[in-house]
Amino acid sequence: MSDLQNGREQWGSRLGFILAAMGSAVGLGNIWRFAYVTGESGGAAFLLIYILCILAIGIPILMAEFTIGRRAQSDVVGSFQTLAPGRPWVLAGFLGVASAFIILSFYGVVAGWSLHYFVQYFSGGPDVGNGGDYGSYFGEFISSPLAPLIWQFFFMALTVGIVFVGVKKGIEKSNKILMPLLAVLVLVLAGYSLTLGGAQEALSFLFTPDWSSLRDPNVYFAALGQAFFSLSLGMGALITYGSYLSKKDKLPGAAASVAGLDTLFAIVAGLMIFPAVFAFGIEPDSGPGLVFITLPGIFDSMAGGGLYGLAFFFLLSAAALSSGVSLLEVAVAYFMRKFQWSRQKTSIFVGLIIFAIGIPSSLGMGVLDHVSIFGRDIFDTMDFIASNVFLPIGGLIIALFIGWGWKKADVLEASDLGDSVIGTIWMVILRFFAPIAIFIIFLSSIGIL
Ligand code: PHE
Ligand code: NA
Repeated sequence: MSDLQNGREQWGSRLGFILAAMGSAVGLGNIWRFAYVTGESGGAAFLLIYILCILAIGIPILMAEFTIGRRAQSDVVGSFQTLAPGRPWVLAGFLGVASAFIILSFYGVVAGWSLHYFVQYFSGGPDVGNGGDYGSYFGEFISSPLAPLIWQFFFMALTVGIVFVGVKKGIEKSNKILMPLLAVLVLVLAGYSLTLGGAQEALSFLFTPDWSSLRDPNVYFAALGQAFFSLSLGMGALITYGSYLSKKDKLPGAAASVAGLDTLFAIVAGLMIFPAVFAFGIEPDSGPGLVFITLPGIFDSMAGGGLYGLAFFFLLSAAALSSGVSLLEVAVAYFMRKFQWSRQKTSIFVGLIIFAIGIPSSLGMGVLDHVSIFGRDIFDTMDFIASNVFLPIGGLIIALFIGWGWKKADVLEASDLGDSVIGTIWMVILRFFAPIAIFIIFLSSIGIL
């Protein structure tokens, strides 16, 4: 079989790889998480720092992950063990597998909400006949003990199903069709939303920075975490995807298009959500429910809105699925090699464990809502540990590994950058700028700087 290399699968084409990496990047992070984190962090100043994080830290580390994966041709743990046997860099690999478990556990909860909304739109939408108090509808739904768990289980089953089928037939195929559809729909909805009357306020919220908020270290911390989360960075999803790439493809272009598309998606999603936030008088900092409360309002106000709702939550669920698949694949690729299990057995086993880990995050919205860990509920705690702590630390180790743990000439060749100006800038960023920036953002967020 031509798509097997050392017994591992390979992407069918370079385009298939880029689309799968885009599918990993574009997900709930661009719409659900981006909207509520931007809303909570005050808007434009956060957005500015976020974009700086993408450009100066995100893209270079994205390139680093592709480079590591393609050269090593192994999963996130095996890659470090192959490239630097017996050295401590492999810590990033174990952190990555741990992050995959944690992130997918709560990601599945939100993806389950999205699936639930999708299905509601078959019969007129959520809260149909109740006057459209979507805040209460959402609150009641997520705090009920059983229903969200069933949807979360359903999402995990779909994710396992795709990983079960394999890299090329499962992951590559599902991305090709659905991603462009989602892009078109988000653009149409943003265009419509900007006519709602909240447009003026939304544009100034998103693009006119309140400079004083730059004095709050948490804005930087939130922006860094969101950049890593949104780009699927720091936990080896892109090392794993890079490892299914044959030697001859060009990495820098792939890295730039993945980051560019992901960021564009987030900004257009912001243009879709925030006009509605202001038009309907919802507080921008209302938290993780933001899109589940504002979007049904948009659909309500549109002619034929029910169909838009149906299409939107279908595509959001599909985007979540392609991201969930990349999270699961990190853990599955590792355990398959480690224990010599079949792909089928591994994906079911790991999927079940991750579902179980996610149960408390879902129950924390209802029966376990008295549980608070340093002021955060269970769900937020999982998200915080993974997105704001594990991913940046993983990224820091990856940057240092490429910058210092590997011979420079070798790195430049492995990355396709070669002896170029961009190659030099990339190395300087990975050696000095990115590690120092991440370190400083950490220290200031815990109040040391
Ligand atoms: N990037 C995905 C999103 O924006 C989430 C994700 C994080 C996927 C980390 C893989 C790894 O939804
Ligand atoms: Na994203």
